Amino acid sequence: MAVLDVQGLQTHFFTHGGVVKAVDGVDLRVEAGEILGLVGESGSGKSITGFSVIGLIDPPGRIVGGHIRYLGEDLVGAPERRLRALRGKEIAMIFQDPMMTLNPVLRVDTQMVEAIHAHEKATAKAALARARDALAMVGIPSPDERLRAYPHQLSGGMRQRVAIAIGLLNHPRLLIADEPTTALDVTIQAQILHEVQKLCRETGTAMIWITHDLAVVSGLADRIAVMYAGRIVESGATAAVIGSPSHPYTLGLIDSIPTRATHGTLLRQIPGMTPSLLNLPPGCAFRPRCGRASDECLMVPQAAPGPAGKVVRCWNS
Ligand SMILES: Nc1ncnc2c1ncn2[C@@H]1O[C@H](COP(=O)(O)OP(=O)(O)OP(=O)(O)O)[C@@H](O)[C@H]1O
Ligand SMILES: [Mg+2]
Repeated sequence: MAVLDVQGLQTHFFTHGGVVKAVDGVDLRVEAGEILGLVGESGSGKSITGFSVIGLIDPPGRIVGGHIRYLGEDLVGAPERRLRALRGKEIAMIFQDPMMTLNPVLRVDTQMVEAIHAHEKATAKAALARARDALAMVGIPSPDERLRAYPHQLSGGMRQRVAIAIGLLNHPRLLIADEPTTALDVTIQAQILHEVQKLCRETGTAMIWITHDLAVVSGLADRIAVMYAGRIVESGATAAVIGSPSHPYTLGLIDSIPTRATHGTLLRQIPGMTPSLLNLPPGCAFRPRCGRASDECLMVPQAAPGPAGKVVRCWNS
């Protein structure tokens, strides 16, 4: 059974300006020990997808359709009590902003021990030892000193690493990491990616790694789902998505990655701009930017089986 099986998820925001369909019919599946990379431009709905899974959608937002099955249990409509018990324990999220995890008025050791005690009885000594291990895992030097610090005494990169360590603390079965390494320098980023990959392999943690950076997930993820304007436009094994993209949007993303070969030449860009979700064009949302657009594209393409076991939403792929 998949650890996470999301089907037809729709999360909409009912704003004064209209209905923002931030997530509109998303399907995702992650098995134990597997890493799924969720990729897309800013505003495509990646974070809202993650928040939906951990049950953190607040008004004016609401899950209006679909299923989020965690080990077979549908979390859509599950009581808040049940979600609270799962959150931070079996299902953890590392947020884009570390201060969504960290409490500014508590020392790091206090918060880490509390995060453990929220879900289990452990001696203070054992909890502290686990906190220290988690900090070491994300490459924090002199962890004892950091444990005694308050968040404001840490650099931004260090805060981010502490937040990642808190996410790992209770050995979640499902970990959703929302661009947690974007602000870190490349060597630290590589170390963290290596560690989380090892964690998934060794403990069977299922992971969703959210990023706008296709280069990051190409080395990390087993499978990739590409998101555009609230929908997954292409998903499949990493090699199949990156090596032979089927959707014109995926192709555009790959073409805009700098490589050594393109050094000195002007990078190709996807023409046009990400559409406003309040004002989506009818049919395929990528149509106005797409070189392959045809008359069919005025109708929303359904997710269909593509080459190499992929699922693709495009009339002309
Ligand atoms: N509270 C809200 N009210 C109205 N619209 C919202 C709200 N929260 C998010 N949205 C909209 O939902 C869409 C998806 O947002 P989301 O944060 O998931 O994007 P993202 O893919 O994570 O982008 P980024 O890469 O910039 O983090 C955006 O258009 C955003 O404006
Ligand atoms: Mg985001």
